[in-house]
Amino acid sequence: MPDRPPARPEEVFSCRAARYATSKVHDDRMTLSWLVDAAAPSAEEIALDVGTGAGHTAFALAPRVRAVEAVDLTEEMLEEARKLARKRGIRNVRFSLADAMSLPFGDRSFDIVTCRRAAHHFTDLERALAEMARVLRLGGRLVIDDRSVPDDEDTAALINRLDAIHDPSHVKDRSPCEWSSLIQGTGLELLGMRPYRRRMPLSHFTDMTWR
Ligand SMILES: C[S@@+](CC[C@H](N)C(=O)[O-])C[C@H]1O[C@@H](n2cnc3c(N)ncnc32)[C@H](O)[C@@H]1O
Repeated sequence: MPDRPPARPEEVFSCRAARYATSKVHDDRMTLSWLVDAAAPSAEEIALDVGTGAGHTAFALAPRVRAVEAVDLTEEMLEEARKLARKRGIRNVRFSLADAMSLPFGDRSFDIVTCRRAAHHFTDLERALAEMARVLRLGGRLVIDDRSVPDDEDTAALINRLDAIHDPSHVKDRSPCEWSSLIQGTGLELLGMRPYRRRMPLSHFTDMTWR
């Protein structure tokens, strides 16, 4: 685990926003399509994307639903997302500033909630998950894509340390077992987990030009 408290995500992501907009790692159509399939969207549904960043998940969902609300804590990320939406002619996504730990939406407002590669930044993941479950209607689907670590504590600590070097706002990667009990703690039914690997060179974590 990092030996310093994590930086605020807004501090880190405000400087990186433009890079996320063009990042092939984040605009990765194959894993985005897996996420959309898991959400099982239909044309009349409304989705919420939490920690939307430059909007890649919201854009992948947009053609398959009526509307997408997309929220993030970093205004610069939202600006990049709005630019990208204009460039791609996507009109059914609305971007706004919000904290995953306190979502500004009523109970049972959404058919689908997604959260991709953002949960490891949340300082209170249980609370963020409770918020996502609260805004989901009965029969709705929550789809989370996030890094994970093995159960082995030393390996998990090493990976978390590398993540904190790459991103000072990193809080914690969870193992699949931890994810399973976190989801069950929300009262939602865990329908499945789909592991996939992303291969990153070590320099991805140690490259200081991201800072
Ligand atoms: C690695 S980016 C991922 C963005 C996007 N979901 C994707 O897959 O491309 C993580 C995003 O989470 C946002 N974030 C971090 N903590 C947050 C919080 N508490 N509430 C909302 N967004 C948050 C950051 O501002 C950043 O835009």
